[in-house]
Amino acid sequence: MAESQGNDAQNGTPGGQYSGPRAIDPVQEHSHDDDPDFITRTRFLSGVAIAGGAVLSAAILVPIVGFAVTDAVKDPKAQWVDLGPVSNFPDGQTTSIAVSGTSPWSDARVFVRNRAGQIIALWNRCAHLGCPVEYFKGGDNYVCPCHGGAYDTLGLVVAGPPPRPLDRFNVKVVDGTGKSVGGVGTVHGSWSTAGISQSDHLLVGTPFSINSAQKAYRLHDPGEPVTGVLSNLYPF
Ligand code: FES
Repeated sequence: MAESQGNDAQNGTPGGQYSGPRAIDPVQEHSHDDDPDFITRTRFLSGVAIAGGAVLSAAILVPIVGFAVTDAVKDPKAQWVDLGPVSNFPDGQTTSIAVSGTSPWSDARVFVRNRAGQIIALWNRCAHLGCPVEYFKGGDNYVCPCHGGAYDTLGLVVAGPPPRPLDRFNVKVVDGTGKSVGGVGTVHGSWSTAGISQSDHLLVGTPFSINSAQKAYRLHDPGEPVTGVLSNLYPF
């Protein structure tokens, strides 16, 4: 009897038989604090999320920075280097000339292509890793001695590893007084030779890069593509 009363008191029904719901032990919540596998997974997933965010940020921000640099390259106060009279660059030919003076690109060699009434100034720096390319008059093309990169008469890639065409220089022509005979060429950096005198001087200025369609971009590093996903992620 005493034993029965004790059990009833424990169930909250002193003196009576309890038949209702009984309290049960709460379920212990499982803690991951001491689970090394869980911590490792959490850190891994966090790392993946952070890395993904960084890649997305780069894909968004790098083109924006690129546009800003493009504006800087178009700075009209860019330095011009005088290559001499237009007569140095006969119509129908491509003439190689070293750039000298105080230009930041004073070590460059320029291939001045004067064809069909337009002048284009190509930089001899290979777009792959920067080796100096050579011009071959017989094939009217450019070949890089380092890894076999080859470019056609316009500097467009025809073989080898270069990721883009040869870079170009802006060009303009000035008369005997130093006055520009029309301004910077706008067709792929070229200059129309219509109406200019053979005694006028040809000048080269800021270099820039192009894609295979000859669309102009800011100057890129050797090995750097100008379009595509890889161009956004360069140099990662
Ligand atoms: S540096 Fe010209 S092909 Fe590699």
